[in-house]
Amino acid sequence: MTLLDSMPTDCVVSAWNEWDRLREMVVGTAVGANYEPTEPGSRPQRRGGREGNPFPTGPKPQHVIDQANEELQGLVQLLQDWDVVVRRPSPVDFSTQLVSPDFSVENQYCAVCPRDVLITVGSEIIEAPMSRRARFFEYLPYRDIVRGYWKQDQNVRWTAAPKPSMHDRMYRQEFWEWPLVERHKRMHDFEFCVTQEEVLFDAADASRFGNDIIIQESMTTNRAGIEWLRRHLQDRGIRVHAVHFPLDLFPSHIDCTFVPLRPGLILTNPERPILEGEDKLFLDSGWKLVDAPQPSLTNDQMPEFCQSSKWLSMNVLSLSPDVVICEENEHELHELLSREGLEVLTIPFRGVYEFGGSLHCATWDVRREGKGEDLLG
Ligand code: NVA
Repeated sequence: MTLLDSMPTDCVVSAWNEWDRLREMVVGTAVGANYEPTEPGSRPQRRGGREGNPFPTGPKPQHVIDQANEELQGLVQLLQDWDVVVRRPSPVDFSTQLVSPDFSVENQYCAVCPRDVLITVGSEIIEAPMSRRARFFEYLPYRDIVRGYWKQDQNVRWTAAPKPSMHDRMYRQEFWEWPLVERHKRMHDFEFCVTQEEVLFDAADASRFGNDIIIQESMTTNRAGIEWLRRHLQDRGIRVHAVHFPLDLFPSHIDCTFVPLRPGLILTNPERPILEGEDKLFLDSGWKLVDAPQPSLTNDQMPEFCQSSKWLSMNVLSLSPDVVICEENEHELHELLSREGLEVLTIPFRGVYEFGGSLHCATWDVRREGKGEDLLG
């Protein structure tokens, strides 16, 4: 018997991939959300011709919060209609300033996107170190839920990855000043606004494929973070593979770039092809890479304060290997996924875009049917 065979599959926490039949999930909330502050790991910019204007600080306007919450509640309802147990984060006031021995930041962000903070690997919940100061304490809204699972089932493992200092030394400030030509020149160095010294990653840079996890090097995940995850999981036979998308000059979070939908099928971003040679891991195991169509919005048409690209269109949530939830306006994507044999459910979600995420970002899957399998290599 291998270590993997001995891992529980009927645990209250159990999820091995992004697509098996969903049974339990956390859906984010916009309650208490603030604008993300300017800090060494993030320089938020307005959109739609207002790029040069100052980015607001402090709490988001109530109508923006209400709109997102209405859409998040719509997702909760849909999931419950499909017999998925849904839990919600505890309310937190993100307007509080943070001061640590190594950094300070004027306010925090929000609990709209649990995907960035938490990842379930089999029966283990891992809290990511995070990469930005304003998100240092973003695990707190989920702690009651995590503690509850841990108490409920002795097979649940709960790990908080090492917290980085977030000292100025952890960041490469000149990154923000590099002109586009310089970025193109450096695109194969995979050096962004974070240095390589401390362990850091956001959970949303990882994507689970059974006994393999892929994770992208980005502005929010460095090589030390990937190495920490690799060593942490290797004893259980789980392999961690770094992946790269050199044409994405501001990469953060893999779920608008490379999105597995079921065994054998990955939705890819036509503007961000995977590094030459890294596709072999998937192609050699018979996976098909299918480019997403152009999104329904241009980058300029995205909400003025949204820090993510138009490719939030690809940030879909799988209910099972046969059923996927998409934003209701992404008609070309619906058609593509239907042609691939998936049942497509649609809901409005553009109000959530304001907070940088769509359906995958705004959720964290706690339990899916199925167990660890070798699907790559
Ligand atoms: N950084 C990604 C968003 C990931 C949710 C993008 O802007 O496309």
